[in-house]
Parts: sequence; structure tokens; C-alpha cells
Amino acid sequence: MTDSADIKSIKACVFDAYGTLFDVHSAVGKHKQRLGKRGHEVSAMWRTKQLEYTWLRSLMGDYVDFWQVTSDALEYALDSHDISDNILHEDLMQAYLNLSAYDEVPGVLETLKHAGYKTAILSNGEPSMLASAVTGAGIDSWLDESLSVHELKIFKPDPRVYQLVTDHLNVKPEEVLFQSSNAWDAAGAAYFGFKVLWVNRFDQRAERLPGTPDFEAKDLNRLLEILGLQKKSGA
Ligand code: LAC
Repeated sequence: MTDSADIKSIKACVFDAYGTLFDVHSAVGKHKQRLGKRGHEVSAMWRTKQLEYTWLRSLMGDYVDFWQVTSDALEYALDSHDISDNILHEDLMQAYLNLSAYDEVPGVLETLKHAGYKTAILSNGEPSMLASAVTGAGIDSWLDESLSVHELKIFKPDPRVYQLVTDHLNVKPEEVLFQSSNAWDAAGAAYFGFKVLWVNRFDQRAERLPGTPDFEAKDLNRLLEILGLQKKSGA
């Protein structure tokens, strides 16, 4: 159980990137006229395959970076829909470097920074992909660090990935409040020992996995409520 004493011990707020801060479906959204009715399905399959490939490559012990995984997954999704269009593939990959942040993200991060919390991303994303997304969304000033699995060459939810946070930010697991919209990532982080807010943006059911998130909400505004913070006006 998480009580107010536990919340007072929080020093760092850490965020999953894709799906949590950034809307992965905004890439296809930018090119939807070129995909027509198939856009929604292509985008969903792209995301599902991308995640599957991270898990499978971790199990196979054959790491390639998240950019390559993302490209392979897109190739699969387009091929599954009988789309053979290298330019579209290239344009969608470029759009992935410039994903939209969810509306509440800048204001939440700014408020956390002003309140004195350490803030960081912890992501499968390859460092230059993450840097591009962070800069594109204009949230770089509110983030202390972008931590990437790339230095470990293994993907989430390997526990060593979550340990990057405790090692780099010099905090204990119970001093971290971790946010993810990916239920399996929320489970992995809770299993590691973080306090976890599952940002259930897509109205999913709870995973049947070890590790139970402490909180669940539709978006990241709840994080400020948990910490007893008022969103900065104008943020
Ligand atoms: C990430 C994936 C899981 O950003 O969305 O790590």
C-alpha cells in the first residue's frame, strides 16, 4: 500500500517515452491521407510488432537499437497490408523522430521541476531518437536526463533497465515514481520496486503479471495530484 509517508519519500519522477509522453500514433496521423482507411490498423500493428521485437530480440540475445526495431516493425506492418512504398516508409520513420507530446506533458514536467523533483525519461529509445523527440516537443528544459537501454543492449522489462534510474539518479527504488502507459512496463517497474502510476490512456485491462502499479489514471495530470502539486498557471 502506498501512503502519504511513501509519497513524501519520492525524489525522482521518471517517465516512459513512447506512448506515455509521446503519441506514437501521431506519426501515421501526419500521413493519414496516404494510408486511407488502413492508417489505424497499420499504426496499431507497427506498435505491436515494435514491442514484440524488443521482447523477442532480448530473449534471442540479438540486440539491435530501437530505431532498427522500429523500422523492421514498420516494414512488417506495411507488408502485412500489401503496401510496398519505400518513400512512405522513410516518411513515417522521419515522423517518428518528431512525435507529438500528449497535451498535458509540458505543464506536468514544468510543475515537477519547479517543485524540485528530479525528472527523467527511461526508454527503449535509442539516444538520438529520444533527443529528437524531446527537443521537438520542447520539453528539454524540464528533463534532467534521458536514460536509454542502449547502454545495456537489452530492452524493458529486464530489471537492469530499471536499475539505470537508481544508478544514474543516485536514488533508491522506493524514491522513484515511475509513469508508463504501457501496462507491462508499469508491471516491470513495480516489480523492480518503484512506485508506479499506470497511465492507462487506452482503457486497457490490468496485466496478469508480477508487479502491481500503485496508481492508475487516464493521463499524467494525476501525478501532480498524487504529489499534492498545483499545475503551474500558464504551464
Ligand atoms: C519506451 C517504450 C516501451 O519508451 O514505449 O521504452
